[in-house]
Amino acid sequence: MKGNEKLLEHLNALLADELTAINQYMVHSEMCANWGYGKLHAAIRKQAMDEMHHAEWLIERILFLDGVPTVSKLNKLTIGKNVSEIINNDNGDELKAVHAYNNAVKFAREIEDQGTVDLLTKILTMEEGHVDWAEIQRTQIKQMGLENYLSIQS
Ligand SMILES: [Fe+2]
Ligand SMILES: [Fe+2]
Repeated sequence: MKGNEKLLEHLNALLADELTAINQYMVHSEMCANWGYGKLHAAIRKQAMDEMHHAEWLIERILFLDGVPTVSKLNKLTIGKNVSEIINNDNGDELKAVHAYNNAVKFAREIEDQGTVDLLTKILTMEEGHVDWAEIQRTQIKQMGLENYLSIQS
C-alpha cells in the first residue's frame, strides 16, 4: 500500500530515535552490570528490548507503506558517566520520544491513516511507561539519597 511521503519521513525519524535508544540503553545496562547493579541492569536491558520491538514495528509499517526503512542513521547518544546521569539522560530522551510520537500521531490523524495512528499510540503508551520508570527512580534517589538507592540495586 503506497504511503504518504511525509508520513514515511516521520516514521524513519522515529526509527532513528529507536535505534539510537537501543544502543544507548545497551551501553547503560551493561555499565550497571559492570558496577554490580543487577536490578538496574535488568530494568534498562528490558527497555532496550522494548525499543527493539518499536524499531521492528516501525520497519514493518514502513515496508507495508512501500517505503525504505533507514537503519543506518543514529542520532547523538547521551551516555551517562554514573547512575544519576544515566537515569536523567534516559528520562530526557524518553520525554522527547513522547513528544515525537504525539507529533507523528497528530500527522497520521490528519492524513486519516488509522493503522499508523494505532501503531504509534501503542508505542507512545510504552514510552510513557519508560518516562514513568525514570521518574520513579529520580524520586527515590531524591527521597532516600543516592547511596541508599544504589544499595538496593545490587
Ligand atoms: Fe521506543
Ligand atoms: Fe522508550
